[in-house]
Amino acid sequence: MNGFPTQNGAGASVRPAGSAPSTRSSLEPSRGTPAEGSSPGTEEASQAFRPRRLPPPSGERWHGTPHRVRIAGCGKYLPARILTNQDLATFVDTTDEWIRARTGIHERRIASPEETTSSLSINAARGALATAGLTPLDLDLIIVCTFTGDYGGMPNVASVVQHALGANRAGAFDINAACSGFVYGLGVAHGLVASGLHRTILLVGAETLSRYIDWHDRTTCVLFGDGAGAVIITGEATAEATAEATAETTAGANAEDPPMPGGLMSLVLGADGAGANALLVPAGGTRLPPSYESIDARQHFIKMDGKDVYRFAVSTVPDACAEAIAKAGLTVDDIDLFVLHQANVRIIRAVVEALGGSFERAFVNVDRYGNTSAASVPIALCEAVELGRLKPGDRVLVAGFGGGLTWGAAVIEWSPFQGVTDPA
Ligand code: UT7
Repeated sequence: MNGFPTQNGAGASVRPAGSAPSTRSSLEPSRGTPAEGSSPGTEEASQAFRPRRLPPPSGERWHGTPHRVRIAGCGKYLPARILTNQDLATFVDTTDEWIRARTGIHERRIASPEETTSSLSINAARGALATAGLTPLDLDLIIVCTFTGDYGGMPNVASVVQHALGANRAGAFDINAACSGFVYGLGVAHGLVASGLHRTILLVGAETLSRYIDWHDRTTCVLFGDGAGAVIITGEATAEATAEATAETTAGANAEDPPMPGGLMSLVLGADGAGANALLVPAGGTRLPPSYESIDARQHFIKMDGKDVYRFAVSTVPDACAEAIAKAGLTVDDIDLFVLHQANVRIIRAVVEALGGSFERAFVNVDRYGNTSAASVPIALCEAVELGRLKPGDRVLVAGFGGGLTWGAAVIEWSPFQGVTDPA
């Protein structure tokens, strides 16, 4: 429908990136349940369906006691296919110079026809589990932040991921806060672990935006890309909780064992639905269900008033970030790394400089991946770890902003990982 040239189609050539793993080879069915990729609507899937939920591990009190929260692992997945600015200029009226100058983007990744938001998520999730030294059965919740689900509303992506991983102790739901989704998800996951209601959560940000792009619209098609990033959020009992659970004194519990650094130090979430029309997919929901007319009018693609969104970002996000830094009891000089939503390098620079920070402390990969919406912050966090730019004990400011309009900012104290450092 969208006219973007595929591997077998005419048009711009798309070269594979050497190091990216093949989705197919790393997606293996788990635990003898229906083969991954079998659609819930197919006969194969319904015949093989057996609901299963394992009991929680025994012998340990967890529910309802406060816990210190940390990010225990992270992973990312980018599709192998690269679409460069020069490739785009062969089929839409744009230039490499314009895109670089206005956005900082050089190239972006495009999912293959077989890839979906869940398959991107699954690859990122496997990396996150490996770096955390955990298995899918350690998870008791899976949250996927996305607005580009596999299906038209349900099932959610998180359930597809749960099944494919064999995470048979886990609940699963999606969060849609567009490009702010991952920061919203961080807040939800942190709260559930800190309260003791959940123990180990897989939080994914994933988008297959290429399926929502109008390849005839140069004002949007040059901006977006596909990808997924994932983190594991888990907790350790506070001294008080440990003492209560074991009937020991607080002094005897964790006194000689200081807790690991980690977790959210602050969180700021915001929304202004009055600006919803600045960035939206007009049709396909209850307001404008799919019809021949909606398809002819190209209403199922992302529409954006770029200037409005730009103005919103550079006016709202610095205030949200400043509030998050203040709530954490820090100043901007205490922030080791700024990991902002990768929409436009000009926005990243403007936000960091408005805060009084140095652009050298901003992590930037929008040049290689474009805007991956809810996936951009976790992909950037993961890449920052891989490149040694984010180390245990560092304070990192994350921020997302976009459709809704929504925004979110948080300060995280980064934690050490206890699994393999190179899951590839
Ligand atoms: O993830 C959600 C959050 N999204 C964002 O944060 C995006 C925020 N917005 C932006 O980053 C920028 O507004 C854009 C990158 C989308 C656009 O940059 P801009 O500097 O605001 O450009 P503009 O929209 O003002 O367009 C300037 C000119 C126009 O031509 P005229 O009217 O001046 O003759 C556009 O038609 O550039 C033209 N133009 C293009 N030219 C070549 C727009 N898109 C293109 C293009 N190639 N792809």
